[in-house]
Amino acid sequence: MKILDKYNQSHLLAYKDQLTEEEIKKLENQIKSIDFDLIQSIFDNKDKVIDTKDNLVAPLVATKLNPQDKEHFFKKGLESIKEGEVAVVLMAGGQGTRLGHQGPKGTYDIGLPSHKSLFHLQADKFLSLRALSGFSVKWYVMTSEDNHRETVDHFESSNYFNYGKENIHFFKQDRLPLVLENGQIAMKSSHEINLAANGNGGVFSSLHSNGLLEEMQSNGVKYVYLYGVDNAIAKIADPVFVGFTIDSGLDVASKSVDKENPEEKVGVICYRDHHPDIVEYSELPEDMRYKLDDEGKLLYRNGNIVSHIFTLDFLMDCVDKEIPYHTAYKKVDTYSDNGLIKADNPNGYKFELFLFDVFKFTEDMAVLSVTREEEFTPVKNKEGADSPETARTMILKTHHKWLTEAGFNCNLGYEVNTSISYDGENLSNKTLENVTFK
Ligand code: UD1
Repeated sequence: MKILDKYNQSHLLAYKDQLTEEEIKKLENQIKSIDFDLIQSIFDNKDKVIDTKDNLVAPLVATKLNPQDKEHFFKKGLESIKEGEVAVVLMAGGQGTRLGHQGPKGTYDIGLPSHKSLFHLQADKFLSLRALSGFSVKWYVMTSEDNHRETVDHFESSNYFNYGKENIHFFKQDRLPLVLENGQIAMKSSHEINLAANGNGGVFSSLHSNGLLEEMQSNGVKYVYLYGVDNAIAKIADPVFVGFTIDSGLDVASKSVDKENPEEKVGVICYRDHHPDIVEYSELPEDMRYKLDDEGKLLYRNGNIVSHIFTLDFLMDCVDKEIPYHTAYKKVDTYSDNGLIKADNPNGYKFELFLFDVFKFTEDMAVLSVTREEEFTPVKNKEGADSPETARTMILKTHHKWLTEAGFNCNLGYEVNTSISYDGENLSNKTLENVTFK
């Protein structure tokens, strides 16, 4: 294959003589699917630093809602949901490796009394939202080649959590090869390239190539809610947020929580070069991370919780937009004469697209500042911060508050059945056994 010589990747066929015909075919197909020119150019630009100088980055003020506004936007959003104008996209292409969980992150049981998986907890939100709106919002689940089968199996074996198979669609995101320090594409075996999901920004092209944007359009969808799999209390298609977005008249809206401290590892929603953007934790210089405003609060405090709404029109425009690849220096396993070598230290690169890089194609966006305890508890690490334990604690505290407000006199530790209650409603005048797990 000439192309391999051109890009100095002929090692990909090093074991060709030892392969079966079927293996050769598989490898050739993988090679054909790679855009070598693209990989070369991302590799060449990997050290380019994103400019975060003070004059390019500016703070963005997020909106906090009072109870009256909340009620108004809730009604407005629910109306839109009832009309079928809202669809939901879940980005679940990543694996649960950092959690020590074998399998898709969404299949992880965070240890609540009900032992529901993250997917199940999310399905509950769809069920309780259906009870509120009378409409089954379509749920599009983005997987990757590595976790697709297991994800679909999890839904199938759980009877789609009673939400109805017809309301849930799965689609795969694309993959890119992992590249070693010397620029060579890593192999996984003698006949397989080491490929990884192309980042949550892969969602635009994958929605498009699967015909899903067109499907949404013909279904009358106007707003698309996108969220990440690891937030155990994501308020999916929150009517308040939908109403807030519609009212803003803007194409893009995000929820944010105030950063807990300057070092919290979340991206910050702000302006960059006069357009809305997110600066990831690792890119924000230390002086900006610690900078305070006149009230003594962090100036760059709008933490990104991966809870976004795009108008469908904007989403359709994003398909053709070019967004940059970000590089992560990582441990990359690679196959050689001695078999698969597990890397102990970083030795290569993973390239990823970030969903929020399309923000800059708008003039402005709406940001809704929400309460962390009610909306954000990511499950990322096995222990410590952002772990199953922190998520359980936060959920059980919130549920205790809901139960107390509904008139129950119970201890901490009861988990509300969220398939019947989206945000604490529908609990009064029932027995504790009927609405909780213990
Ligand atoms: C992400 C955000 C960060 C935010 C933080 C909050 C991005 C790029 N970064 O960081 O600003 O403060 O969450 O928790 O959004 N995913 C895929 N396919 C992929 C890669 C990721 O579907 O190829 C999904 C993950 O399953 C997850 C979400 O996208 O649900 C976030 O991606 P992840 O890579 O976990 O980003 P973080 O570093 O946690």
